[in-house]
Amino acid sequence: MKMLGRIATIAALWSLLGLLVAAPVLAQTPATPKRSLPPIPGLGPDPVLPVNATPAQQAEFKSLMAERTRQRWNYILTDSVARARVLNEKPNALLVETAKGRKPGTALDADMGEGRNAIYLAQQGWQVTGVDVAEKALAYAQARAKKLGVKITTEVADMAKYDWGTNKWDLIVLSYAGGREYADRVMKALKPGGIVVLEAFHMDATNRLQVVGGDYRVFFKTDELPKLYTAAGLKIVRYEEPIGTADFTKENLRLVKMVAQKP
Ligand SMILES: C[S@@+](CC[C@H](N)C(=O)[O-])C[C@H]1O[C@@H](n2cnc3c(N)ncnc32)[C@H](O)[C@@H]1O
Repeated sequence: MKMLGRIATIAALWSLLGLLVAAPVLAQTPATPKRSLPPIPGLGPDPVLPVNATPAQQAEFKSLMAERTRQRWNYILTDSVARARVLNEKPNALLVETAKGRKPGTALDADMGEGRNAIYLAQQGWQVTGVDVAEKALAYAQARAKKLGVKITTEVADMAKYDWGTNKWDLIVLSYAGGREYADRVMKALKPGGIVVLEAFHMDATNRLQVVGGDYRVFFKTDELPKLYTAAGLKIVRYEEPIGTADFTKENLRLVKMVAQKP
């Protein structure tokens, strides 16, 4: 009897200890845990921008974050495990649907990444230029294009500083590449009749996804894109905000999908 009592006391203490340990963890766990990108080997935690940062501190933060973006995507888009976890390796479905039946011409794939869309377009006869800051992702794309016997042109550059040209492209692809700041540039760079195909996340997806470094460039508010692109002079051919499988997470999330044309 004494022994059973002792066992019961130890069991009670054990479960109390469990509760004490679990309680703070439970208290900190959000109702739906956010999905983060895979950790990047060798990349420490994000730098923190001081409150009331000076312009110099802001500039340094921006440059550190840009460098981290380059390293992050170089890794995610070329490491086999990270690729399998994050990336839809097939070309973007909206792009495939939109390009079908169009006469191939010149195409700019902004933030090209590892080339899934550029290679698809090249296979359909398009002359594609892909631009990205992640030089290893571009090299990966070139190696794959060579293997498949197609030609793509790649350039290592920051799209914010890149010369998009004037009346140059029949198609501009913005696939999980942002587009908030690009409407005027897209309008100028497309040939008359040329189209832009844009897919990204709706702002609702931030409930599930981690926004790295407070950078919302691939997240858009309801109707934000059609307003921006209409104001820049483009005609909205198609616009949707469906819940669908995202190409970068493979989860069902609210997305934004737009096709717009230069008159
Ligand atoms: C989510 S991936 C999308 C890749 C590709 N568009 C696709 O759909 O497969 C984002 C890409 O944007 C690139 N990127 C981020 N900021 C950039 C910038 N300022 N200029 C050019 N590329 C950039 C990253 O290196 C990465 O390859």
